[in-house]
Amino acid sequence: MTTWHRLGDQTELLARVPAAFTLDRWSVAVFHHDGRFRAIGNACNHKGGPLSEGRLHGEFVMCPWHAWEYSVITGKGPEGYDEEQVPVFAVEEREDGIYVQTPPVMPRNRGPRQARRRAAAGAGHLHHGDG
Ligand code: FES
Repeated sequence: MTTWHRLGDQTELLARVPAAFTLDRWSVAVFHHDGRFRAIGNACNHKGGPLSEGRLHGEFVMCPWHAWEYSVITGKGPEGYDEEQVPVFAVEEREDGIYVQTPPVMPRNRGPRQARRRAAAGAGHLHHGDG
């Protein structure tokens, strides 16, 4: 069963984002990008860093902990890492406010980046270019 959660009216939400919301059992990071609100899982696939506290570069948000990036539109990593993604939640901008739906329309997918990262464990510092 799906549930729509009202986050506030557009003005309220614009003043808050990027921000994390707990909706049912989901922690959701909400962004405003290219004129639209977007909602993805707040927990980074790497070690759970808070994506709502990351910086946006175009459509990608960079995790504040170790700089993995995710599209706020598709939830996927950048090119080369796009087999993995954080959950994506549907957003509706209605007359009476902005709504986000749970559960996500796209689930988390811990892709090969995680496996590669584990294989490389012990190799030392993690670089942004690793993903
Ligand atoms: S927890 Fe996000 S990059 Fe490590």
